[in-house]
Amino acid sequence: MRLSTGLAAAAFLLHGVLAISPAQVQHDLGGCLSNTTTIFDASSTEYANATHRWDTLASPKTQVIIEVGEESDVAKIVKYCNKKGINFLAYNTGHGSTVTLSRFDGIQINLVNLNQVTIQPDGNSVWVQGGVRSGPVNRFLWDKGYVTATGACDCVGLVGAALGGGRGRLQGQFGMVSDSVRQLNVVLADGSQIRVNASSHSDLFWAMRGAGHNFGIVTSMEVSIHPRGPSTWHYKNYLWTSDYLKQVFTAINTLHATLKNGTDTTPINLGNENGLFLYQSSVDAKRPLISWQFSYRGSAADAAKVLAPFDAIPAVSTDSGDVPYPEVAHAQNVGEDDIACSSSLARLITTAGLSTYNLTAEQLIMDSFTKRIAEAPQLAPLTFIIHEGYPSQAVTDKNPADSAFPFRADFHLTQFQGNLAANASIQDQQLMLQWSNEVVNIWNAGEPGRLPDAYVNYASGNEPVEQWYGHETWRIDRLRGLKAKYDPTNQFRFYNPII
Ligand SMILES: Cc1cc2nc3c(=O)[nH]c(=O)nc-3n(C[C@H](O)[C@H](O)[C@H](O)COP(=O)(O)OP(=O)(O)OC[C@H]3O[C@@H](n4cnc5c(N)ncnc54)[C@H](O)[C@@H]3O)c2cc1C
Ligand SMILES: *[C@@H]1O[C@H](CO)[C@@H](O)[C@H](O)[C@H]1NC(C)=O
Ligand SMILES: *[C@@H]1O[C@H](CO)[C@@H](O)[C@H](O)[C@H]1NC(C)=O
Ligand SMILES: *[C@@H]1O[C@H](CO)[C@@H](O)[C@H](O)[C@H]1NC(C)=O
Ligand SMILES: *[C@@H]1O[C@H](CO)[C@@H](O)[C@H](O)[C@H]1NC(C)=O
Ligand SMILES: *[C@@H]1O[C@H](CO)[C@@H](O)[C@H](O)[C@H]1NC(C)=O
Ligand SMILES: *[C@@H]1O[C@H](CO)[C@@H](O)[C@H](O)[C@H]1NC(C)=O
Repeated sequence: MRLSTGLAAAAFLLHGVLAISPAQVQHDLGGCLSNTTTIFDASSTEYANATHRWDTLASPKTQVIIEVGEESDVAKIVKYCNKKGINFLAYNTGHGSTVTLSRFDGIQINLVNLNQVTIQPDGNSVWVQGGVRSGPVNRFLWDKGYVTATGACDCVGLVGAALGGGRGRLQGQFGMVSDSVRQLNVVLADGSQIRVNASSHSDLFWAMRGAGHNFGIVTSMEVSIHPRGPSTWHYKNYLWTSDYLKQVFTAINTLHATLKNGTDTTPINLGNENGLFLYQSSVDAKRPLISWQFSYRGSAADAAKVLAPFDAIPAVSTDSGDVPYPEVAHAQNVGEDDIACSSSLARLITTAGLSTYNLTAEQLIMDSFTKRIAEAPQLAPLTFIIHEGYPSQAVTDKNPADSAFPFRADFHLTQFQGNLAANASIQDQQLMLQWSNEVVNIWNAGEPGRLPDAYVNYASGNEPVEQWYGHETWRIDRLRGLKAKYDPTNQFRFYNPII
């Protein structure tokens, strides 16, 4: 095996970075690793698959990939990298989209073969390994009569999402993914392997749930599971013209109304609602459309009460059905093989966590999209302005001080997603960048008096740390203290780093 290309090798030497070859790693380490481990680089046909990224703007530089066969391999690789002064980075599905990942140059520790899911004998929890993704976990558990909290998209890693929180369709019932975590097996920066739970390294247990990327590699974790509930979920997708923006957002705000005492009145059986502003010239040549998707834990008849205000808004088209829970993601276009989940593009992303929607702000965002259809039509079909909402009862009933996740009162997640064509000119890239910043600024200005939040799993990587880890200084201080204790040389610094 050899290092990718002569050009790449020269570049590494030019920057004075140690060039790493699979042959060298194999020689040094191969004998110690499990026999199902594979070691390869860009000269291998496996490389493209193993470095697939949803957002290519966030691409780390991957010299060598070690696809581990067993959990115990991870610690050996970390120790080896420390000895040789090589950077290492865990990889699962490549959905991380923060630009801070592009600062990485070194060995990828690929976890995809760590995909075991083991229900515990008491039926209250499951151990999952560090490389599982939501879709297979949902299908496996459902067939055995269970569900667990996961992200809403089947393609995303369960641990990756949990480390930063993990918002999804069951959070009203069971909280975020991080709220379901009971314990974790973690490899620390120095290669030691520890158990993290409420009584063992409890300080790290606090930090791993919300700021986990900064502290270790999770080889497996135990999460709570629950009886699966109704045998089908109802889904309904609507497409509206932009004429109905006010009605749509008024109905969404009513759906999520919060009482004065803080009680969330969102129907707990609502799985999620997520809406997009998007451009489809065949439907409306001059204006963006509003596409909105709902999932409901139960029958069409029960869902009808929740959906009535939306049914009253005249739609271009609707699509609905009743499916077992593991098929809901695909019905909402975020199944493992659906384009929104699996494609690989350069994407400019910004995000804002909101408590409610400001109709003036949404109208401004819609109007600026409409203006761009006229002025920069090449950008319009590639741009998605995303609004997500979930019930939050089991998110807000937790003491916010009990974990590092800082933003329990953000009932809505938003994302500006500006995809860049492969041939996008510098000028188009700049226009898209301006647009991405404009939209996030409108969202944040729509909640005057509230500091901007950028959910760490959606962040662009350009925000200040307070927007990822919380505006309370005690949170940042505590995380920095734990960094000094558990990762003093800052090995875990590539995903929205606290330092
Ligand atoms: C299409 C799409 C849909 C999404 N949907 C949701 C959603 O519904 N809810 C939600 O909350 N978030 C969602 N996200 C955000 C998602 O949670 C983050 O992108 C997350 O970082 C993805 O983790 P990954 O392991 O899949 O990706 P990767 O890029 O492989 O990993 C992301 C980061 O996590 C680290 N990491 C991964 N596995 C481990 C591990 N076992 N131990 C230690 N570190 C690890 C990696 O080193 C990397 O820094 C979505 C993202 C995309 C692109
Ligand atoms: C790989 O190692 C396992 C033990 O960990 C052993 O049972 C198996 O026979 C080995 N396989 C090969 C091909 O060497
Ligand atoms: C990589 O290959 C595996 C096995 O063929 C496949 O399951 C997986 O979806 C591929 N991943 C990507 C990102 O193409
Ligand atoms: C936490 O881990 C320790 C060490 O493995 C174990 O003894 C203890 O039972 C665990 N606690 C919980 C609550 O699981
Ligand atoms: C908030 O008010 C509602 C309606 O009056 C009530 O049902 C609920 O129990 C109250 N919640 C709290 C936390 O006080
Ligand atoms: C980019 O490619 C698309 C087709 O893939 C083409 O329609 C468009 O004109 C190209 N744009 C530029 C600026 O070359
Ligand atoms: C809504 O957004 C507008 C525009 O930023 C702002 O002026 C207004 O104060 C916001 N309204 C509320 C209720 O916050």
